[in-house]
Amino acid sequence: MRTKRVERYETIADLRASLAPARRAEHSIGVVPTMGYLHAGHLELVRRARAETDVVVVTIFVNPTQFGENDDFANYPRNMERDLALLRQAGVDAVFTPSVAEMYPAPLQTAIALKPLGDMLIGTVRPGHFTGVATVVAKLFNITQPTRAYFGEKDFQQLAVIRRMVADLDIPVEIVGVPTVREADGLAMSSRNVRLSPQDRVAARVLSAALREGAAMIAAGERDPQRVLAVLEEMIAAEPGVLLRSLDIGDAADLAAIATIDRPVVLLVTAMVGPVLLIDQQEAWPKAGREESR
Ligand code: PAF
Repeated sequence: MRTKRVERYETIADLRASLAPARRAEHSIGVVPTMGYLHAGHLELVRRARAETDVVVVTIFVNPTQFGENDDFANYPRNMERDLALLRQAGVDAVFTPSVAEMYPAPLQTAIALKPLGDMLIGTVRPGHFTGVATVVAKLFNITQPTRAYFGEKDFQQLAVIRRMVADLDIPVEIVGVPTVREADGLAMSSRNVRLSPQDRVAARVLSAALREGAAMIAAGERDPQRVLAVLEEMIAAEPGVLLRSLDIGDAADLAAIATIDRPVVLLVTAMVGPVLLIDQQEAWPKAGREESR
């Protein structure tokens, strides 16, 4: 099914009713969960969903339960008209834009907490964040019952949390991770970037530059994660506009801590740049040793 115009649904009942015929006809449904203020990274998720599924649903919901007390829920950028225009151009079939009251008619008594995956790394900087994410994504999956769901690799830990939740709870959806889309100078696309002042925008470049440096060190043969982290910390500390919140290297498969870089890893960084919390990631592959290259 390909509709000519994008339909907007604000209630769970209306969205479910609209998807029922496609489900009965066994058409595949692709869902792209977002918090809106769409950028090229989101549009890449939509493009993949459009190419791989029959019916594409984008959800726009700024989920309050994934923001901590000092997080920026109130300041999270929003522009529904612009988002809808972009989604119309991108040829999506349906946009789900529920209110907070529609998603949370009463405070939830149920929460999906991943332990330790949701508490480690970025979870230590943003306590409860991944519980909010996992719970709302599970709700969105129950509402849309998609064949595939698309998430950006920029939020690498989020992607790992969602994959693990889907596996643990036997949710019948294929999770598709899509590579990070970057600005020309390397900054990862994020809805939050719009809140950076011109000076902060320049300072923010150090994050992707540091991650690239880390990946280059690892590719060149560095196997000690602490040495890599020390170099990256120094690079980031030299940029006065950036306050590092977390910097980690983990196993790319499960984010577990590693003593030696002897397998594919992921470098993860969170930092305050001005008033904005930025997150970025970079996968890195160790130089094949004599053993491995044989
Ligand atoms: O990545 C996001 O935009 C959000 O965390 C998500 C997955 C839509 C859940 O609110």
